[in-house]
Amino acid sequence: MSWSGKLVLAACGLAASIACAPNHASRNEVSAPGLKKQLFGRTAAGESVDLYTLANSHGMEVGVMTYGATVTSLKVPDAKGNIADVVLGFDTLEGYLGAHPYLGVVVGRYGNRIAKGRFSLGGVEYRLAVNNGANALHGGLKGFDKQVWRAKEAGPSLELTYVSKDGEEGYPGTLTATVTYTVTERNELRIEYSAVTDKDTVLNLTNHSYFNLGGQGEGDILSHIVTINADRFTPVDSGLIPTGELRSVQGTAFDFRKPTAIGERIDAAEEQIKLGRGYDHNYVLNGAGGGLALAVTVTEPKSGRVMLVSTTEPGVQFYTANFLDGTLKGKGGKVYQRRYGFCTETQHFPDSPNRPDFPSAALKAGARHQSATVFKFPAAPGS
Ligand code: GLA
Repeated sequence: MSWSGKLVLAACGLAASIACAPNHASRNEVSAPGLKKQLFGRTAAGESVDLYTLANSHGMEVGVMTYGATVTSLKVPDAKGNIADVVLGFDTLEGYLGAHPYLGVVVGRYGNRIAKGRFSLGGVEYRLAVNNGANALHGGLKGFDKQVWRAKEAGPSLELTYVSKDGEEGYPGTLTATVTYTVTERNELRIEYSAVTDKDTVLNLTNHSYFNLGGQGEGDILSHIVTINADRFTPVDSGLIPTGELRSVQGTAFDFRKPTAIGERIDAAEEQIKLGRGYDHNYVLNGAGGGLALAVTVTEPKSGRVMLVSTTEPGVQFYTANFLDGTLKGKGGKVYQRRYGFCTETQHFPDSPNRPDFPSAALKAGARHQSATVFKFPAAPGS
């Protein structure tokens, strides 16, 4: 993809900037400095799943498990240094093995929707597993979120690799995908994606964490203040497939160019809000294509906790957990009600394989895809 070449992977200076946190040996297996590993459980097929903890010296701590390359916890400071876990999830592997709406996982091979589960590439039509009405969503019936990834410790980083076979869920080409998680001393969670394929294919990898900066399970996210660096978004049809239009946010409930509370217009009497049952739309990021750029800023007024999302991707799906309904019991017994989280899924636009005018999500045989997204949690305003 054209974005790949331009990406100056922020690995530059990364190793140098990471002073490693002390190990918390206890009963856990000691790994690289700042990395802990423990057995989390086993899948129904008996595969073991490990849970890694990445930490820095400021108390920021991130849990990542090998099933789905999933972020299971994200403990970050607020303005006063108080730490809270700001992502939704489960305490046990069993929770993740059950049905849930992609909490914390990496979605792939193609995150978001492909209309009717069909696309053509190089003159061949491919048919995908359809799992969302008439459409393919988040990689199909058994996407990357339901696979056990192979882990490798790389200094302070955790590298997770999954090999998706040619034809899996209908996608062409054997694709080797690697997701690298790093926690930096600047209170960042960096997620770097890389992939190669042996046949031309399409690809859209993202992380599907649900955030609540007031603490997971601590109510809805309507008071969070959001800024999105986008003048346009991609309106959708009733199946949440983009119509192809890049519509100005001007004068709509989708205008987050100035800091605005999520709840202010989430129930606006606008067709697009009704179709999404709130926000569930892709934003066309301004100035994409030049490396990592700030896409979204979120502040939770009560705690003062701030999250900055930067990405090399051209789009971000802003989703306000409109499908959560109180049936899921998450970490610490918290019940996840509608709009108890929000997602900022950095991505190529939904249905790009059927939209030649959208930035291409195709990956050529032998080429390398590289992209990155950084979630930063400044400990104090301006830091
Ligand atoms: C994405 C989609 C939503 C929904 C969630 C998972 O954000 O855009 O419509 O499918 O994933 O529930």
